[in-house]
Amino acid sequence: MATVKTIAIIGATGNMGSAIAKSLSKKGNYRLLLMSNEQDKLVDLKTQIEKSSRSTEVFAISCAREASWEADIIIVATPYEAEKEVAEKIREVATGKIVISISNPLNSAYSELVTSTDTSAAEELQKLLPNSKVVKTFNTTFAADFLSPIIDGKTADAFIAGNNGEAVEMVSEIVATAGFNPIVAGDLSVSRTLERMQLLLIQLTMKNNYNWLAGWKILHN
Ligand SMILES: NC(=O)c1ccc[n+]([C@@H]2O[C@H](COP(=O)([O-])OP(=O)(O)OC[C@H]3O[C@@H](n4cnc5c(N)ncnc54)[C@H](OP(=O)(O)O)[C@@H]3O)[C@@H](O)[C@H]2O)c1
Repeated sequence: MATVKTIAIIGATGNMGSAIAKSLSKKGNYRLLLMSNEQDKLVDLKTQIEKSSRSTEVFAISCAREASWEADIIIVATPYEAEKEVAEKIREVATGKIVISISNPLNSAYSELVTSTDTSAAEELQKLLPNSKVVKTFNTTFAADFLSPIIDGKTADAFIAGNNGEAVEMVSEIVATAGFNPIVAGDLSVSRTLERMQLLLIQLTMKNNYNWLAGWKILHN
């Protein structure tokens, strides 16, 4: 029998962190280590997950380094601006591990990205964590989509970009467990496109009142 992988979620009490944690707990495929600075919210989230999914082992941990040390896979669910600080804390214990970048480096007006066009948040995280396998995903899915990734009758796509084949495969399984359709989009530099796709979706969502329930779907034969 395959061993259950352990996933640490850094920033677990945020919109995305909590949505990912709840969604990954549904099938009991993973052991979850939830990390946040907000202990009360963290304990609430752990209790909610334990009530709804008795088959998932879930732990609340107040230290990013400790959570990452115990994990096979680390999801950084903090704002882009906090990633340097998080990376410094987890660098040594994330060696050889998969680190998932979900961030979109938006400016405060949501009118542009703060990164230059020749890089991406994911590539910047890879530079900060040179001995880890950074994989981009879940940046084009809104937090609210995780409750039901079926939008307008279709399963929303979640794109995956990374340089390590095995890591990309493992992340595809995580994406499928969360109920999204995994699409491997290319190497980590494709994150430049994926992060701009979400900038556009956010702008269209605000303009057209999609209520933050929107996603990408490639239609094909
Ligand atoms: N919201 C979405 O629909 C969406 C969709 C796709 C991708 N994303 C990306 O997902 C990431 C998180 O977004 P969000 O909307 O979930 O933000 P959020 O609700 O503000 O949550 C951010 C989380 O990160 C924690 N955090 C902040 N600084 C930290 C630090 N230095 N160390 C440890 N934890 C820290 C926060 O805890 P404290 O409150 O204690 O600071 C909070 O738990 C962003 O990069 C965003 O671009 C968001």
